[in-house]
Amino acid sequence: MDCIDCHNRPAHIYKKPNDAVDLALALGTIDRGLLSVRSNATYLLTQPYASVAEAMTAIASGMEERYPGDDRVKPAVAALQQIYRENFFPAMKATWREYPEHIGHKDWPGCVRCHDDNHPSADGQKNIGFKDCHTCHEILSQGAGPDLMNLTPGGQEFNHPLEPYDPEFKCHDCHTGGP
Ligand code: HEC
Ligand code: HEC
Ligand code: HEC
Ligand code: HEC
Repeated sequence: MDCIDCHNRPAHIYKKPNDAVDLALALGTIDRGLLSVRSNATYLLTQPYASVAEAMTAIASGMEERYPGDDRVKPAVAALQQIYRENFFPAMKATWREYPEHIGHKDWPGCVRCHDDNHPSADGQKNIGFKDCHTCHEILSQGAGPDLMNLTPGGQEFNHPLEPYDPEFKCHDCHTGGP
């Protein structure tokens, strides 16, 4: 394998809207107290706009419509417009959707292009797997708040947020990086 089989996006990274909005929420540039702001923000970022100017106007009016008269809207609009300008290029039709990243496996197949429990190792003795997460990860702790105090040096099983899912699914069957 060559480096760029995995590092296919060393530059010109188009951030996924989910990750960009999560980062803004974590930094507080979007106020997390605004009701359903994560889904409203990702919705407004991902509509099919014809130009950056059209997107700027639609993001501002979309947020004002959803949170009328709320002071927290102005900084949130500025944060969303910046995310849009840095990651969406309507004239070139370039967004995270068109340019997958092969590191990881959550929002695109990435490692699972080969580690899918079906492709054999070089000596043909075993299939390279996905289901055994410990091949690549040791989850030392997970969750929120006091859960994070439970450290397990040998690694924990992954607790999927909300609820478990059928292990025949791969992460990218559901996760796409956007709404
Ligand atoms: C099988 C997939 C794969 C291949 C092939 C691969 N890498 Fe990586 N590389 C990774 C992963 C996964 C990470 C850790 C995740 C990350 O930092 O994005 C990483 C991290 C790195 C980092 C550290 C990045 C940082 O921000 O700290 C460098 C530098 C790097 N790789 C260079 C290379 C070079 C040079 C080659 C080719 C000789 C190569 N890699 C081949 C998967 C790969
Ligand atoms: C193009 C196919 C391909 C891709 C993509 C790929 N791998 Fe692999 N990987 C292999 C093969 C084949 C082996 C088995 C090598 C052997 O022992 O014959 C392997 C082995 C490994 C192993 C050793 C453990 C094992 O199961 O044998 C690790 C760890 C690993 N890969 C990590 C990664 C990570 C992390 C990524 C994604 C960033 C990745 N690989 C992407 C083909 C791939
Ligand atoms: C072939 C190696 C490999 C296997 C097997 C693997 N992962 Fe990963 N996983 C990675 C790499 C590489 C990343 C990206 C790390 C990075 O971006 O720095 C990743 C990222 C993740 C993330 C963070 C995703 C995000 O963006 O928030 C989670 C959660 C995760 N893996 C869970 C799992 C679970 C659960 C399994 C087993 C069902 C599993 N992984 C199997 C290599 C692997
Ligand atoms: C059957 C569909 C499905 C599968 C398969 C699935 N997820 Fe999820 N996942 C969801 C849903 C639905 C949510 C909750 C929606 C949200 O919070 O964005 C979620 C939430 C998450 C979150 C927290 C929110 C986020 O997007 O960061 C992480 C991390 C995550 N999943 C990782 C994984 C990883 C890693 C795998 C594969 C090992 C995986 N999921 C497989 C449906 C799935």
